[in-house]
Amino acid sequence: MCGIVGYIGDKQSAPVLVSGLRRLEYRGYDSAGLAVLDGKKLSVVRATGKLKNLEGRVATDPPQGKIGIGHTRWATHGRPSDENAHPHTYEGVAVVHNGIIENHLVLKEQLKAKGHAFSSETDSEVFAHLIAAEMKAGKRLVDAVRGAIRQVKGTYALVVVTEHEADRIVATKDSQPMVLGLSQAQNFVASDIPALLEHTRDVVFMEDGDLAVLTPEKVEIFDAANKAVTRAPRRIDWTPTMAEKGGHRHFMHKEIFEQPRAVADTLRGRVLRSEGTVHFEGWNFTPEQVQAFTKVTILACGTSYHSGMAGKWMIESLSRIPVEVELASEFRYRDPIVEKTHLAIAISQSGETLDTLAAMKEAKARGAATMTLCNVIGSAMTREADLTVLTNAGPEIGVASTKAFTTQLIGLYLLGVKLGRLRNHLTVQQAQEHLTHITEVPKLVEEALHSEAAVKKIARTYVNAQDFLFLGRGPMHSVAMEGALKLKEVSYIHAEGYAGGEMKHGPIALIDEKLPVVVVAPKEPKVSYEKIAGNIEEVRARGGQVIAVIDADDKHLTQLADHVITIPPSSALIAPIIATIPLQLLAYHVAEMRGNDVDQPRNLAKSVTVE
Ligand code: F6R
Repeated sequence: MCGIVGYIGDKQSAPVLVSGLRRLEYRGYDSAGLAVLDGKKLSVVRATGKLKNLEGRVATDPPQGKIGIGHTRWATHGRPSDENAHPHTYEGVAVVHNGIIENHLVLKEQLKAKGHAFSSETDSEVFAHLIAAEMKAGKRLVDAVRGAIRQVKGTYALVVVTEHEADRIVATKDSQPMVLGLSQAQNFVASDIPALLEHTRDVVFMEDGDLAVLTPEKVEIFDAANKAVTRAPRRIDWTPTMAEKGGHRHFMHKEIFEQPRAVADTLRGRVLRSEGTVHFEGWNFTPEQVQAFTKVTILACGTSYHSGMAGKWMIESLSRIPVEVELASEFRYRDPIVEKTHLAIAISQSGETLDTLAAMKEAKARGAATMTLCNVIGSAMTREADLTVLTNAGPEIGVASTKAFTTQLIGLYLLGVKLGRLRNHLTVQQAQEHLTHITEVPKLVEEALHSEAAVKKIARTYVNAQDFLFLGRGPMHSVAMEGALKLKEVSYIHAEGYAGGEMKHGPIALIDEKLPVVVVAPKEPKVSYEKIAGNIEEVRARGGQVIAVIDADDKHLTQLADHVITIPPSSALIAPIIATIPLQLLAYHVAEMRGNDVDQPRNLAKSVTVE
């Protein structure tokens, strides 16, 4: 989720690049940089932190040249720093990259053996080295880029300039967005439309495998088979704000719809299906240490706490290690019992939540091994933990957490499989079955998003409700809690999430004909499903309104509920991920219909760095 921009034309490129990056800052904001070509030589400026730091450096010493590339970074490999900021250069080649090179370690070793010296911790720098090596061997830039790409496993949007062919920009992509902007005597390339709107509304969306050669006068495109192709330009009539949100009205909506991509990025490079296990970069717990773990303690707040609740179900069933899920704010103040054989996992989107950070420090000080499941590399938790597993969801701008939750669930499922294999609780074959289910998630999430029209209708019906009750059992209890939290924080309607079995112990008193009750009831796990049908009957018998989230093939509950929202059927540990999607949409649409500020709900902050 980085932002890329490239310019070639009759103007000085640095100001064009900086203003383009400003429009892309929502894609990443931990460092930024430019490489400008003056027809002969490259000048590179990079700065850690927000774009204004780069702007300051550019203003003091503006790089001269009418060709340039720029980047705003969302770190995935290597912490945010000047060295890790893009562009990366090697022997007169400068690159900016968005995506992940899965085999970068192998490639780095091969290049080092040939005498290449690396100056960053990133995977992306590999591209500069590979292209430089190909050019040194006599290839033209276009062929050198193709040659580099053939060696890489992973995803990329890549833009390259070089001193050796100082009259062009080359851009190529696979599984990452890239758009070309066309104009008179100047052309542009960017990872997203907002960077272009100031200059042109005529754009061409590149397709996977396309390679584009940009000069001031023209843009040539070659497809994956290296055949020249014509891709028809499209006229964009978005306003700049609409463009930043990719055409969505709010970041929350955009982020809900980004989830197929986000969960795919959490999975990328981690599923080793043939070995029946999971690869986490930087995994540093020995098999003996894992065998010796007697307890996992999950520490988190809010939505991340809810993912921990589902994670308990996953890790216990996959590895048989007992798991406790603790509200971080409570754990740190109650003299917790922590042993050296405990693993404390801090779950956090931001990696900065004060209570979670302090709870993890407390567990560490008492001897536990620590790990963080986190979305922001370089954040306080990733610096503090013994091991970091990144969720790779990309920046989450909407205050209400959406894609962070589903990617955390994927991370926890993968972790459960890894621990299960290391403790010999899962056979290779069992692990492979789980990995098959996990790799289906992006497609299932995509299908679950089709529930939006049905959800919108229900939102319209209940937009003026005073209260909502959410029920779920087993792993769906956490989904009910998350559904209630999402609704209350963005719509300001009071909502409670409960375990279905607890209903008779109190909440049943709330039920009357005005109370909408959302029942999360996919068919898996069976043990929860059979019981939740009873809860539906109990609500109906008291006149309550049942909104059931059910599998698309569930004829039985369709008849029992007042409204149904269908999701694609899935396996027991996947179902919490899929069932969450319509509840995010419900919260979003109710809030939007009530005219609330969806992305910045009242009284809330994105990152809670105070107690
Ligand atoms: C809810 C929400 C909050 C966060 C909580 C923890 O939508 O966003 O409840 O989940 O503040 O934040 P992180 O995950 O950054 O530690």
